[in-house]
Amino acid sequence: MSSLNQALRAALDHRQDLLAELHAQGTDCYRLFHGSQEGAGGLTIDRYGPQLLVQSFHQSLESDDLLHLHQAINQHLGLELLLVYNDRSRGNSRIDREDTVYRAEPAALEDLVGHEWGLNYRVRGRHAGQDPLLFLDLRNTRGWVKANSAGKSVLNLFAYTCGVGLSAAAGGAREVCNLDFAEGNLAVGRENGQLNPQLPTMEFIQSDYFPAIRQLAGLPISQRRGQKLPSYPRLEQRQYDLVLLDPPAWAKSAFGTV
Ligand SMILES: C[S@@+](CC[C@H](N)C(=O)[O-])C[C@H]1O[C@@H](n2cnc3c(N)ncnc32)[C@H](O)[C@@H]1O
Repeated sequence: MSSLNQALRAALDHRQDLLAELHAQGTDCYRLFHGSQEGAGGLTIDRYGPQLLVQSFHQSLESDDLLHLHQAINQHLGLELLLVYNDRSRGNSRIDREDTVYRAEPAALEDLVGHEWGLNYRVRGRHAGQDPLLFLDLRNTRGWVKANSAGKSVLNLFAYTCGVGLSAAAGGAREVCNLDFAEGNLAVGRENGQLNPQLPTMEFIQSDYFPAIRQLAGLPISQRRGQKLPSYPRLEQRQYDLVLLDPPAWAKSAFGTV
């Protein structure tokens, strides 16, 4: 057995109880192999519902290794997952569009639906952004929000595709507002809302974080000397019961750096 196969086998064995727990929670999006900690630096393997997403960040995988790990995971889970391989080992973690190792079937590259805490999420294995539209690392936070939002007004800052907002709505929040400066991310958030038609509708605000929180706090928006600020939506001063912030590190905008 190759060292990669051995490492993968150990990772799957270690996750036996976790996977049973996640499936019972209505979650089928999770990391199956975290190479840097589990014996193959620069390799990650994630399941997003019907899709298996394999990504290499340091060196390309051999196609035999890729096909073998796909088969081993399918066998372990008793599923036929659709394989997408993103080779990010060249050029700034960008995906190698030439598909030299493995060409994904068209069905694997379509918009699909994954599940987390019983909610439906749009997942897309390959697009311009870095992840398939759901950041797996925030799963437990989203679970906490779902369990602690009943009757509350919730503000989801740095909303991305609005998973936190969706979780709050599912947890019985009386009002949910998602805020992000990227319209494309909020558009997926709206789509996520539509994929869960049983939930109350949410509010979406496309705005930079800085002018938004200053207005909500009743503070003035300071202009930098000699610099005209981009326009921003006007918001009334107000409070929320629960505010979640999940900013990226060192994100720069005209209004400041998070
Ligand atoms: C780490 S993601 C948030 C993930 C999200 N909490 C979730 O559950 O999927 C960070 C988000 O912050 C947004 N963002 C970064 N800088 C921003 C800023 N200055 N104002 C508003 N949004 C910003 C990005 O567009 C991105 O969607």
